[in-house]
Amino acid sequence: MTKPIISKLLEDYASQYSTSESKTLAALNRETNIKVPQAVMLSGHLQGTLLQMISKMVSPQRILEIGAFTGYSAICLAQGLKDNGILHTIDIEEELQDMCLDYIKKAGLENKIIFHLGNAIDIIPTINEQFDIVFIDADKQNYAHYYDMIFPKVPIGGYIIADNVLYEGEVVLPSELQSKNAKAIHFFNTKIKADTRIEHVLLPIRDGLMIMRKVNE
Ligand SMILES: C[S@@+](CC[C@H](N)C(=O)[O-])C[C@H]1O[C@@H](n2cnc3c(N)ncnc32)[C@H](O)[C@@H]1O
Repeated sequence: MTKPIISKLLEDYASQYSTSESKTLAALNRETNIKVPQAVMLSGHLQGTLLQMISKMVSPQRILEIGAFTGYSAICLAQGLKDNGILHTIDIEEELQDMCLDYIKKAGLENKIIFHLGNAIDIIPTINEQFDIVFIDADKQNYAHYYDMIFPKVPIGGYIIADNVLYEGEVVLPSELQSKNAKAIHFFNTKIKADTRIEHVLLPIRDGLMIMRKVNE
């Protein structure tokens, strides 16, 4: 997953001329790359800095993240939480939990981030909250389903962000050349385009980020 959409040289330049990665996030990035298969799934410095910036602009009370992995984007998004704010993050992989919780603690966020182990489809209905930001970054086949599940839990003016919406550029290929995941992502993007209850922009950063703002029930 995630061939950069722009050249590596330009992506590195953009990273270099953005706020530096914190020591904790740099260590998490490094350890994930050394120890975890599919480390490329981690948001990384540039996208992580954008998520932090968005969260600081919104100043959310509650955030929901679907797909914690090793905790990188959760730690980024939590930076903008109000003093008494909480971020809920969900992941299905038990073996990621210790590393994720370890870095949440190292980042001093153990009182602000709640990690839920399990299938997001089962967990989402059990979190009885409204969310100012939802970050969808788990199994691509379920993006459209997650969107429908969380939509009533987002107030008007709230944000939904979905990662990997360009799916390595596969979304522009003819359908017969697209993988199953790319087809699911294209289906999701088409659904979003048709949804008049939101304003949205597809940013070609990393693997593509769809940023949506709810304007109507
Ligand atoms: C792309 S990674 C998340 C990356 C993370 N948000 C970051 O930026 O560092 C996707 C994660 O979704 C998790 N996942 C996949 N299917 C899931 C499901 N049905 N429920 C919960 N988590 C799921 C995977 O275990 C994986 O850790």
